[in-house]
Formats: sequence, C-alpha cells, structure tokens
Amino acid sequence: MKKILTFKQIDELAKKLSDYVSKNTVLALIGDLGTGKTTFTKNFAKEFGIHENLKSPTFNYVLEYLDGRLPLYHFDVYRLGSAEEIYEIGYEDYINNDGVALIEWANIIESELPKKYIRIEFEYALGESDEELRTVDLSYVGDKEKEEEMLKYVDFSN
Ligand SMILES: Nc1ncnc2c1ncn2[C@@H]1O[C@H](COP(=O)(O)OP(=O)(O)OP(=O)(O)O)[C@@H](O)[C@H]1O
Ligand SMILES: [Mg+2]
Repeated sequence: MKKILTFKQIDELAKKLSDYVSKNTVLALIGDLGTGKTTFTKNFAKEFGIHENLKSPTFNYVLEYLDGRLPLYHFDVYRLGSAEEIYEIGYEDYINNDGVALIEWANIIESELPKKYIRIEFEYALGESDEELRTVDLSYVGDKEKEEEMLKYVDFSN
C-alpha cells in the first residue's frame, strides 16, 4: 500500500516496524539516492535497542549490531557489481541467523531476496507548500496474510 508521509510519520513508521518484526525478517529498502533509506534504518535500530551510532556499510556491504532485541544486519548493496556477488559476503548466513536484516538498495539483489520479505519503497514527493514528503510503498512480498497483520500493526491504512 502506498501513502504520502512526512518525515515525522516515516520516523514513527520505522519505530513501529522495529517493534513488529520477528527473527529472520528481511526488510528491503528501495529508493533513489537520498530518499531516506539510511535514516529509516537508524530510527529502526534505535527503537530496536541498539545504542551504537550506525555507520555506513557502503564499503563493507554489511555491518552487524548485536545489542538490540535481536541481531541486526545492515546491508548497503549499492556498490555491488552483480546480485550473485552478495553470497561472497556471507549473505545467506546473515539472513538465516535468527536476526533482522535491513538492506539498502535491495532492488539490486531482488533476484536473491527470500520468498517472503517486507518491502519499503521511498519516492520523493512535495507537499502543498513545497515541504519535503515521501511516497512510501509498504508491502509484505509473498505473504498477504502477514501484510494485512503488518499494515494493521503499524497503522498504515487510508
Ligand atoms: N526521516 C527523515 N527525517 C528527516 N530527514 C530525512 C529523513 N529521511 C531523509 N531525510 C533527509 O534526506 C537526506 C538523505 O537521507 P538518507 O541518507 O537516509 O537517504 P538514503 O536513501 O539512505 O540515501 P543513499 O541512497 O545515498 O544511501 C538526509 O540527510 C536528510 O536530510
Ligand atoms: Mg543510505
């Protein structure tokens, strides 16, 4: 489902999703440069109980944080040459390790995403007085029942 949200509402959504997710959940974050994937991850991580400031995993592709409610794996696959290269960094072990994975630029590895995952796509939008907004498309790919449950939990409806 798609909605146009303020930054404040997106920060709220990140927190609610952080409370919602259970182990082995993958969140695919999709959107152009600067649409808010990292900011979303930071707010999610904070609510998750992670005290450290998140660093950019751009050059390492993945960084892990172990002091939250569950292990958290933060991927940024922007610089990956091809989708298959993700396996060289132990992708499968991370996503099946009883933690939660957030993947920035997940569209680049779309073919390698699990059967079921939470998909969040951000797009630039402008409000009536030119304030910055974002269109947020939130879905649970591969699981319509879970999608309904999730949308209800995070209060994402029209
Ligand atoms: N939720 C938000 N609250 C306030 N500002 C935001 C928010 N999301 C994005 N921004 C603004 O957009 C900028 C870029 O956001 P961010 O780094 O999260 O984007 P990104 O999608 O991770 O970009 P990249 O593709 O380069 O990694 C921020 O520095 C901030 O100015
Ligand atoms: Mg980013």
